[in-house]
Amino acid sequence: MDSVATENLDDQRFYLRQNVPAVIGHRGAARYAPENTLASVRKAHELGVQWVEVDVKLSADRIPFLLHDTKLDRTTDGRGRASRRTMEELSVMDAGSWFAAASRGERLPTLVALIALLDRLDMGLNLEIKPTPGSDRETTDAIVDVLRRHWPEHRPWPLLSSFSLAALARARDIAIDMPRGLLIDEFMRDWPGALDELQCASLHINHKVVTPDLLSTATEEGIPVLLYTVNDGSRAVELLQAGASSIITDAPDVIFDAIGGTAPLR
Ligand code: G3P
Ligand code: MG
Repeated sequence: MDSVATENLDDQRFYLRQNVPAVIGHRGAARYAPENTLASVRKAHELGVQWVEVDVKLSADRIPFLLHDTKLDRTTDGRGRASRRTMEELSVMDAGSWFAAASRGERLPTLVALIALLDRLDMGLNLEIKPTPGSDRETTDAIVDVLRRHWPEHRPWPLLSSFSLAALARARDIAIDMPRGLLIDEFMRDWPGALDELQCASLHINHKVVTPDLLSTATEEGIPVLLYTVNDGSRAVELLQAGASSIITDAPDVIFDAIGGTAPLR
């Protein structure tokens, strides 16, 4: 059994404290490549990043794939709600030109394709479950199903996270063995109650709303805290010194420079 294939919350927290790297690439390496594409993951790897965070939602035919927005408009040449398109339709869209002419032809990757790349690059994953509104449960079900069928047996489970409490509740019920993190974008007074209810191992907080008090309380309790999206080196150092486990960033090189040293390329 993998060290993280445990249902015990304290064990999951211990595993995360030991293994979550100080720097996680946001949507791959979103400053340098089109977000949530395989090119972005490869760029993160080139920069020495060991884990990436990506956003995963469902196509009309219920295939988990990578995309941040509900709509296709900002990051592809498609239009309208992504959940209305089949994976066959999504897979021919251009997800690179909006970012740079040289990225033309980048595709929207399936979760299965991402898993294969991560395995090849020996990288870890924070998988954000990003359901289109109303599809929290089915999105979680499909993602967990793909992970159980395709995630390499020799690798520890990815860290799942979500803003959606419904998705996290479903993940608790069907994937208690996979570590899960609660995403918070606004201050939440009863975050300990929410973690407890959802049996979440970690807290993932917008660094603009995190307080020193929250960071020290969580750290004392042994709860890993991941901060997003931090692209400023001195802010990253401040947060890591205050007890944060990890910085989720669009610009991993900036954060590596600030914290002194890059992770070795494998
Ligand atoms: O998981 C951290 C971060 O990605 C959450 O916000 O909107 O960038 O997905 P967002
Ligand atoms: Mg995200």
